[in-house]
Amino acid sequence: MQRKYPLLNCVTDSQRVKIVKDIFSTVTARYDFLNSLFSLRRDLFWRRSAVRKMRFFKTGRFLDVATGTCELAVEAALRHPHINIVGLDLVEDMLDFGGKKIEKKALSSRIELLRADALNMPFPEGHFDVAGIAFGIRNVPEKIGLLKEMARVVVPGGQIMILEMNFPENPLIRDAYNFYLNTILPFIARAFSPNPEAYSYLGDSILNFPSPEVFSGMMKSAGLIEIEIYPLTFGITHLYTGYKPVSLPGPYPSNRY
Ligand SMILES: C[S@@+](CC[C@H](N)C(=O)[O-])C[C@H]1O[C@@H](n2cnc3c(N)ncnc32)[C@H](O)[C@@H]1O
Repeated sequence: MQRKYPLLNCVTDSQRVKIVKDIFSTVTARYDFLNSLFSLRRDLFWRRSAVRKMRFFKTGRFLDVATGTCELAVEAALRHPHINIVGLDLVEDMLDFGGKKIEKKALSSRIELLRADALNMPFPEGHFDVAGIAFGIRNVPEKIGLLKEMARVVVPGGQIMILEMNFPENPLIRDAYNFYLNTILPFIARAFSPNPEAYSYLGDSILNFPSPEVFSGMMKSAGLIEIEIYPLTFGITHLYTGYKPVSLPGPYPSNRY
């Protein structure tokens, strides 16, 4: 059967942007509901685990890359009442939805939203204490490029956090998860989502995400240090943290803003 969406590592940059926009602008209205349903509300716990580990020490600013409907940004704002946040995403519809949520929670004065590509962010070097991305990096083929861009915009000593879903290593959980991703998830998606193909793409993108060891190697290649990996919920998701060294080997051009 012809796939609606080709794998992202087989397309050009402009095709990638088009596919990501098509997928996320068609699932927006049901995105939070389906996330909670598919993960049995574990997604809230995963984001909370990330937010608890955030450390603010200089700028008091957090960047939520690929913020989507702003769940991580809101969680960070509630946990750290003194910080300000920028949520950045490629897709206007996701940001619109997130913006309404932020207004309802009276957080508009602390969370600013911006439409931009995470691979080329309109911030000067060292603008944030922490840059995080939740369930977004698997959509980006140039993962090391994205990690470098996140490192560029945090201060020396700043923190980079990644939350991402994986294929678990335990064979029993792997089999159960495989069945879930390939059988149950598409069934639920057909029942609830206006674009069920988007969820087949989601399954593919999880299956194709590198193992925690390979991904932490990518973090090292991006120049990050003190990398820690925290498996969550039987290793279905991992939280990765790393730091920008106080003197990070470049090049990180400073004239981009
Ligand atoms: C699975 S959603 C995750 C949303 C949110 N972080 C969360 O925790 O639910 C992935 C998001 O990544 C965004 N995205 C994908 N590629 C991007 C890029 N290159 N730059 C900015 N955002 C991107 C999509 O538009 C989408 O909103």
